[in-house]
Amino acid sequence: MGSYHALDKVLVYFFVVVCALQQCLATGVETDQTALLVVNASEGLGRPIPNTLFGLFFEEINHAGTGGLWAELVNNRGFEAGGQNAPSNINPWSVIGDESSLLVSTDRSSCFERNKIALRMEALCDSEGPKECPSGGVGIYNPGFWGMNIEKGKTYKVVMYVRSLGSIDISVSLASSNGSQLLTTTNIIVDASKVSKWKKMEVLLEAKETNSNSRLQLTTTRKGVIWFDQVSLMPLDTYKGHGFRKDLVEMLAKLQPRFVRFPGGCFVEGEWLRNAFRWKETVGPWEERPGHFGDVWKYWTDDGLGYFEFLQLAEDLGAFPIWVFNNGISHNDEVDPSKIQPFVQEALDGIEFAIGDTNSKWGSVRASMGHPEPFDLRYVAVGNEDCWKKNYRGNYLKFYDAIKNAYPDIKIISNCDGSSQKLDHPADMYDFHVYTSADKMFSMAHQFDGTSRDPDGPKAFVSEYAVTGKDAGSGSLLAALAEAGFLIGLERNSDVVEMASYAPLLVNTNDRRWMPDAIVFDSSQLDAIVFDSSQLYGTPSFWMQQFFAASSGATVLDTNLKTNSPNSVIASAVTWQNSEDNTNHLRIKIVNFGSSPVKLKISVDGLASNSINLSGSSKTVLTSTGSSKTVLTSSNVMDENSFNEPKKVVPIQSGLGITGENLDFVLSPHSFTSFDLLRERINLRSKETAGSSLISSI
Ligand code: AHR
Repeated sequence: MGSYHALDKVLVYFFVVVCALQQCLATGVETDQTALLVVNASEGLGRPIPNTLFGLFFEEINHAGTGGLWAELVNNRGFEAGGQNAPSNINPWSVIGDESSLLVSTDRSSCFERNKIALRMEALCDSEGPKECPSGGVGIYNPGFWGMNIEKGKTYKVVMYVRSLGSIDISVSLASSNGSQLLTTTNIIVDASKVSKWKKMEVLLEAKETNSNSRLQLTTTRKGVIWFDQVSLMPLDTYKGHGFRKDLVEMLAKLQPRFVRFPGGCFVEGEWLRNAFRWKETVGPWEERPGHFGDVWKYWTDDGLGYFEFLQLAEDLGAFPIWVFNNGISHNDEVDPSKIQPFVQEALDGIEFAIGDTNSKWGSVRASMGHPEPFDLRYVAVGNEDCWKKNYRGNYLKFYDAIKNAYPDIKIISNCDGSSQKLDHPADMYDFHVYTSADKMFSMAHQFDGTSRDPDGPKAFVSEYAVTGKDAGSGSLLAALAEAGFLIGLERNSDVVEMASYAPLLVNTNDRRWMPDAIVFDSSQLDAIVFDSSQLYGTPSFWMQQFFAASSGATVLDTNLKTNSPNSVIASAVTWQNSEDNTNHLRIKIVNFGSSPVKLKISVDGLASNSINLSGSSKTVLTSTGSSKTVLTSSNVMDENSFNEPKKVVPIQSGLGITGENLDFVLSPHSFTSFDLLRERINLRSKETAGSSLISSI
């Protein structure tokens, strides 16, 4: 950080008088806790923050993708759940009708080579005669992921593969969970000659009613044998038409993420290598993907959300994709470096898929999926949390050499922590994960203060951080405050920290494998973000991250905090430009981690007088409202949001609330405050002529 230039010192709103802090502060609040924050905003003295500082880590955990971000409504669409490595099953598909009227089984007659299982359904009843079918027919239904949310007026696309020994008459319906209410239905009637071989069928269904606990039904009243395979139901309206659940991606977009790390986490590793995420199994036409059982988080995924879709998601969010690939190591087995070459080739092929020419083998597969332009893949991570494993270094070096040789510009991220000692292997970045208590997290604001400043050394990627355990519950204000303090430390150390992301990002409450998470949802899909809804909310940690959304690519300023609460108050200041209207802002963020109010005085040096537009400036506080109303009634640090009270802990924006020129405030106990000062387009003192004339303009 540059040194303070005395001549540049121009007080914006007040003059710092020489007196004891307490005497200076005339706020009327009873507290001994005081803080004076001096921000040096002198032109040219700040340090640029990496463009990539804050982003997202998306892991397929908690049904975050399958039954979550990926808008597919059918669960186990190919009847393959369990996959090749365990006995497959058709769960949660169920039967409509009894054994006297219907026989359902699976066989390996599918037309898709990598997922051979198909469902065979034999209707024993008929539309007339001695064994007449029930009026609603017999068949199968899929309840989706804990019920499908079907909304009146919306259109849904059904795609399925069908074969039969005779002509067919199938009702395709969306119905309530017990089938009593039909939301929409259509009939597919086809001659035997047209379905004697597998045939792809598509229908559009417009829902006439809303029901958040619906199911897809395939029924018939005609005797005969029908095979089904790869049955899909998607809403037509998805984020940018790319198959992502709109309400959830809109929440992600609110954080203005600069990168998306995917697809895990432990999901990448697997308990066993045979169940790890292997990208080649997840690309190409969705019907042909085998799917796999993620044995760490213990659920099946059809891999509709595959490698291509992750790259697409990052692109749709305007973020860099960061691909974490399996390095031949799972939780329980490891490939020896002498045998790692197939994994190395798989990683090289994956990079080619993302950025290769359309004439290349894998680039052409990408193009065939509708994306001839390369994706902007610049970073890959070799494994996840494997540094301590026997074969990590041996394998890592093989990946490193091969990737640098083929793609010298790709940045490679090691699993080994380089924050306190030098890495013993080459890397562009190193992963740093922390899950800890609130106190520890807050104190870790200084984790990177002592890190080597070697300009050629690897940078830190704090790719997973969160307060966990009793301090966090399922997402407390306390956790968010501690994390805010930690991120303020990262901002200030952003010369050595290049990226940071919270973990985990999403949880479907029907399968909570990890607590807390940033965004909580259930299976309902909403038109747009509705924070009063019972289906989706951000935890305090989500809202905390929004305070940092403008920081990536901003300029961090030198600050000096004088306080008698040095262990519970931390602050940073950044200047940034709003790219939409080119307005310039000074954002001062400060956490009061203590249980007493703090009288705060802010002094901004280095700006010309009148350079802040007071009416355009604001203050935002992350604190507990004590209820779902917007009135502040209490501040219980363990308060959480919930489906019933989604806005209990949220940022509350107000005017600065100052009358004169003095930036005097009171920080509530347990609060995170951002002071957003709008800078006027006025002249600044140039360094050369400081103290004499105003010449340069911002
Ligand atoms: O974020 C949850 C898990 O925590 C990740 O899968 C893993 O990388 C870490 O241990």
